[in-house]
Amino acid sequence: MAAEVKVGLMGLGTVGSGVVRLIEENGRDLYNQTGSKISIAKILVQDLDKERSLTVQKGLLTDQAEDILDNKEIDIVVEVMGGIDPARTYIRQALLNGKHVVTANKDVMALHGSELLLIAKEQECDLFYEASVAGGIPILRTLVDGFSSDRIGKIIGIVNGTTNYILTEMKQKGSAFADVLGQAQSLGYAEADPTSDVEGLDAARKMTILGRLGFHMNLSLEDVKVKGISDVTLEDVQFAGQMGYTLKLVGIAQLDGGKVEVSVQPVMLTDHHPLASVDGVYNAVYIYGDAVGETMFYGPGAGDLPTGTAVVSDLVTVVKSMRLGVNGKGAVAPYREKRLKSKREVFSKYFLRLRVRDEAGVLAQLTQLFAETAVSLERVLQLPCSEKGEAEIVLITHTASQHQLDSVKGRVEAMDAVIHIQSHYRVEGGSAV
Ligand code: NAP
Ligand code: HSE
Repeated sequence: MAAEVKVGLMGLGTVGSGVVRLIEENGRDLYNQTGSKISIAKILVQDLDKERSLTVQKGLLTDQAEDILDNKEIDIVVEVMGGIDPARTYIRQALLNGKHVVTANKDVMALHGSELLLIAKEQECDLFYEASVAGGIPILRTLVDGFSSDRIGKIIGIVNGTTNYILTEMKQKGSAFADVLGQAQSLGYAEADPTSDVEGLDAARKMTILGRLGFHMNLSLEDVKVKGISDVTLEDVQFAGQMGYTLKLVGIAQLDGGKVEVSVQPVMLTDHHPLASVDGVYNAVYIYGDAVGETMFYGPGAGDLPTGTAVVSDLVTVVKSMRLGVNGKGAVAPYREKRLKSKREVFSKYFLRLRVRDEAGVLAQLTQLFAETAVSLERVLQLPCSEKGEAEIVLITHTASQHQLDSVKGRVEAMDAVIHIQSHYRVEGGSAV
C-alpha cells in the first residue's frame, strides 16, 4: 500500500473546512494510526472566487467534479456538499470508479443508501457515513459494533441540533422562534434550507438510518411519521416547564413483537428523562437493548470540527482497511423482514391542552367521553384563562393507542363546549409527578 493516501474532498463549507483543519492539525496522529500520510489532492467547490474561512492552496480548488472522480491518484472521495443531486451521482460514480467514499450526507444515505451500499459491496469499496447522524457522536459504529451481541428494542434520539437549539433558547430565554432560527443559521447548524430542520425531515432521515442499523430492517423515509416544531408555541414550551416536562423534537424507533414504529415529533419528556437535559445544539441518542438495558450517547450534533471528527474517523477506518485489504467487506445488509405497526399498535401517553367555555359540567362531559373511548386519564388540570368566559384544560392520559387518541380527539373537537384543541403531544418518560 502506498505511503500516501490521496483524498478528493467534495465541498469546503462548514464540514469540509473542519475536515481540512483536522487532517492538517492531526496529520501526525493519523499517520501513526494508519501508517499512511493522508493528504488532500483536490477540493471541489461551486464558487472558486468565494472568500473562505481557511486558506487552502489555490491549485487545490476545482469546480469540475471529474478532476476528482476521474483522477486515478485519488483513493478516497469525501462528499460534504450536501443535497441529493449531484451528491448522489458523484458518490455513485466514485464507487463505480473504484474509490472508497466517506459522506456526511443523511439526505442521500436515507433515500439512496441501500442502492449505494450495494454498489460499494460489488465494487469492494467502503462507503461510510458516520457524520450523517448526530454529528460528532460515533453512534453508527456503536450501533453496528457495540450492540452486535444485543437486540435493540428502542431508540430515542435528539438528532437535530438546530431544533434542539431553538427549543432550548425558547425555554431558557423566552426567545421567539424566528429569532432563534436566524441564530442557528448563522452558527452553521441549520441546513441550507432550514425547513428540513424545522419540519422534522432532517431528523426523519437520521432516524431512518438509525432504525435500519438498529433493527436490521430495510426502513425507508416514507415509513417515518413526521411532525416538526413549526406549530410549537412559546406558550407550549413554558407550559411544559411548569408541569415538569421539557418539549423536545424527538425521533422514536421502537420494535415490539417483530413490528416497528418510527416517528419524529415534538414530545413532552418528563424532566427526569435523561434526554430532557440535552440542551442547545447538543444531540443524544438513547438506546434500550434487551441485554444491556438503558444507554445514552451524548455530544455535539453539528458544527465544523465535531462533524469533521466523524468524517476523519471514517477516513482512518478506510485507510486501515486498505492496509489489511478488507475494504467493502464489513457492511451487513438488512436481514429482518420489515413489518410496520398500525395505529392500533403504537402506544403512548398523551398531553392535550384544550380551550373550553367556562361553564358548568364541561369537565364531567370530557371525562365521560374519555371513559367511553377507554382512554384513562392520569392528570386533569383546569386553569384560568385571559379570555373572559373561557378556561384552559390540560389532560394527561395513561397509555393509549394512537388510534384511541385520534378517536378521542375527534370527539373532543365535536363537543359544543370545546372551542379548540390548542395542542397535543406524545409524552415519554413516565409520570412527571
Ligand atoms: P455547506 O456549508 O453549505 O457547504 C457545502 C459545500 O459544498 C460548499 O463548499 C459548496 O461550495 C460545495 N457545493 C455545494 N454544492 C456543490 C456543487 N453542486 N458542486 C460543487 N460544490 C458544491 O454545507 P455543510 O454544512 O458543510 O454540510 C455538508 C454536508 O454535511 C451536508 O450533507 C450536511 O447535511 C452534512 N452535515 C452537516 C453538519 C453541520 O454541522 N453543518 C453536520 C452533520 C452533517 P461553495 O463553498 O463554493 O459554495
Ligand atoms: N442541520 C443539522 C442539525 C446539521 O441541525 O442537526 C447536522 O446534521
